[in-house]
Amino acid sequence: MSKTRVWIVGAEGNLGSTIYREIDREEYRVITSDKDVDITDVEQVTRYMDVNRPDVVINCAGIVRSGDEEAELVELYKVNTLGARNLAVASRKTGAKIIHISTDDVFAGNVTAERNEFDIAMPDTEYGKSKLAAETMIRELNPKHLIVRSSWVYGGGKNEDFVDKILGQAKSGEKIQVPNDQISSPTSCRELARFIVCLIGSREYGIFHAACQGRCTRYEFAKTILQEKGLDQVEVEAVFSSANGGRCTKLRNLMMEITGIYRMPDWQEALREYLSEEENG
Ligand SMILES: NC(=O)c1ccc[n+]([C@@H]2O[C@H](COP(=O)([O-])OP(=O)(O)OC[C@H]3O[C@@H](n4cnc5c(N)ncnc54)[C@H](OP(=O)(O)O)[C@@H]3O)[C@@H](O)[C@H]2O)c1
Repeated sequence: MSKTRVWIVGAEGNLGSTIYREIDREEYRVITSDKDVDITDVEQVTRYMDVNRPDVVINCAGIVRSGDEEAELVELYKVNTLGARNLAVASRKTGAKIIHISTDDVFAGNVTAERNEFDIAMPDTEYGKSKLAAETMIRELNPKHLIVRSSWVYGGGKNEDFVDKILGQAKSGEKIQVPNDQISSPTSCRELARFIVCLIGSREYGIFHAACQGRCTRYEFAKTILQEKGLDQVEVEAVFSSANGGRCTKLRNLMMEITGIYRMPDWQEALREYLSEEENG
């Protein structure tokens, strides 16, 4: 029997590269691309699909920016929304399943209640809007879809994340100031990647929330990172968010609970695993 072909899009990014490391390449035939196949270019995407005929497309490409500047705004919708649309159309045409990575930012950040997959998304940032528009296009354009929403993702290596930032500041002796009014669930790329790999061969479809269990403020997250590294003596100042006030987004992984397909660990446990692996190379 021929192996299922999996195309990881955005494979050099933090999550894409982690999926590449986590996936069993004996079991799956894995092909990868990053900016060499520009997802905003429909011709490039279609040609790649026609030549490589993947059975599953995992879209990890995207840009995580506020979109406050005009040039940034255009780029945000171009990559996050139209890029996702192009992948949805091309995968539908060849009968492939698409797994698209989305975010807790599809929900407004001023609601303290937890949100599950059946709550109505209502973003209040341009980034969140670009990601929700992508979800809508994918749902409309390819019925064989899985949308995976996560939050405060760290690890992976390519682009600096919150953990790198805090440890970098501790090392350089820089003053560390972290908001105490932003709440979410830190999620390691590795745990998220394990779940996504689990979806590849499953019969599941639809939206799945995939955040580590439990929540904390950014300040608590920073303090825990330092404690785990034995840097308890490093001072961290709790501050208020400068722009737009604090954001609070609590994803509940209800679809995972219902289907029993996977269980995300507590965020502290995932962080401990990530930091010890980093230490041991
Ligand atoms: N990070 C988080 O906290 C978080 C939380 C929830 C969901 N997500 C979502 O998870 C996904 C992966 O995030 P990540 O943290 O792994 O991001 P990342 O490290 O920035 O990876 C994204 C990759 O896509 C590439 N890319 C950008 N524009 C492209 C284009 N036009 N065509 C092809 N590739 C392109 C990027 O290249 P460059 O680096 O050169 O731009 C990068 O290698 C994103 O969709 C993001 O919205 C992230």
